Amino acid sequence: MTVRRTKIVATLGPASSSPEVLEKMILAGLDVARLNFSHGSAEEHRARAQLVREIAARHGRFVALLGDLQGPKIRIAKFVNKRIELNEGDHFRFSVTHPRDAGTQQVVGIDYPDLINDCGVGDELLLDDGRVVMRVDASTADELHCTVLIGGPLSDNKGINRRGGGLTAPALTPKDKNDIKLAAELQLDYLAVSFPRDAADMELARRLRDEAGASAWLIAKIERAEAVADDETLDAMIRASDGVMVARGDLGVEIGDAELVGIQKKIIQHARRNNKVVITATQMMESMISSPMPTRAEVSDVANAVLDNTDAVMLSAETAAGHYPIEAIKAMARVCVGAEKHPTNTRSGHRLGQQFQRPDESTALAAIYVANHFPGVKAIISLTETGYTPLIMSRLRSAIPIYAFTPHQDAQTRVALFRNVQTVPFNPLAYPADKVSQAAVDTLCKRGVVQPGDWVVLTKGDSYHGTGGTNTMKILQVGDTLSDA
Ligand code: G6P
Repeated sequence: MTVRRTKIVATLGPASSSPEVLEKMILAGLDVARLNFSHGSAEEHRARAQLVREIAARHGRFVALLGDLQGPKIRIAKFVNKRIELNEGDHFRFSVTHPRDAGTQQVVGIDYPDLINDCGVGDELLLDDGRVVMRVDASTADELHCTVLIGGPLSDNKGINRRGGGLTAPALTPKDKNDIKLAAELQLDYLAVSFPRDAADMELARRLRDEAGASAWLIAKIERAEAVADDETLDAMIRASDGVMVARGDLGVEIGDAELVGIQKKIIQHARRNNKVVITATQMMESMISSPMPTRAEVSDVANAVLDNTDAVMLSAETAAGHYPIEAIKAMARVCVGAEKHPTNTRSGHRLGQQFQRPDESTALAAIYVANHFPGVKAIISLTETGYTPLIMSRLRSAIPIYAFTPHQDAQTRVALFRNVQTVPFNPLAYPADKVSQAAVDTLCKRGVVQPGDWVVLTKGDSYHGTGGTNTMKILQVGDTLSDA
């Protein structure tokens, strides 16, 4: 039985909010549903979250919910006629005082007072994810005067970036603070923070999350040039988070597309070394917004992220607003399974030659190392409270599936994001203390995952409550009578 190891995150939106479509998406392999707080009302997000949970439960599937905060994306205001067309060589101005709904062919308003201070003569500004490029020629007290270098259409509320980064609005807006409360109410599994500049922004997000009573794991979206400027900043941001997203849209615009592939590899590697989960996002199957098939380039892009060892690949507009949300998930699932066959996916040099920090980490890494090197092993069973032990295991490349056995609902959905980890609801306290391993192996056997004669690696601790207690690894043969005593 081939289990897909790389997980699929898909954004919900108008194209994917009906029960019929959502059900097909979940059956096609959706692992994490993303609620994009940049669009839609709290009511819509509430309804989607509920629907995902209902459908997943009906099918015995575990789908995590991720809320994505809008963050301080800097945008231009509106045009009188919604849209203008700019040509190379045109002169254009950004004004912090111009009326917000009255942009013209020459000038548009902008809600970011520091724009003038943050930009200097010669800087390049990128509009609409880099589709339109301008150079700053001069600035006055309230305007930037620019020349268009690359022309094209420009419409209401398009985003603006500076090449090299440096437009530094604080990461958490009043709207984000409200949406953190919504995340608490909806008991989301993950919360993605947009445009964090450094670890301090993530620490603030964590404080606000705690104050709101939410328990969502925090994902730092890496999308500013500053965040990847040096290893110290990147690693500090990773350590201050529970996971990261390679948010390639804004990041690519700020650092330039030529740098992006290398930075993606670096972010994924650094996240995994720090025991964090990582999502690769943006335009992975963009053409599937309007086509039932991905392009060859998109197939390669998804496969490359799989070979980089990302935990998950993400769909945005493809599933939120595209014509083929179900096909996009199927295509992604197919490409992931194909790429996972490549031999580099099963060999690992992860943390060889490095010290381990904790007993549970040591046990988890030992277990996956055994599974990779002892040919009879067909599965790993990890008894876990929070998902932490299987998370550590899944930082190492392996073709042996990891089964997170947990009685807790939040951990059951959380691990849906971890590469190569599947959920099995299991309450060790429901069995006599000496029969827990037997019951766990029997459970996998009943599911058809393993058969008599196969070997299974199992980890647990000396008590069955409390995170961080994993201290035991067993190598068990299916069919033997097992006793924990
Ligand atoms: C199970 C084990 C415990 C262990 C825990 C680990 O309950 O039997 O002994 O402490 O899982 O949970 P964690 O959240 O650290 O993966």
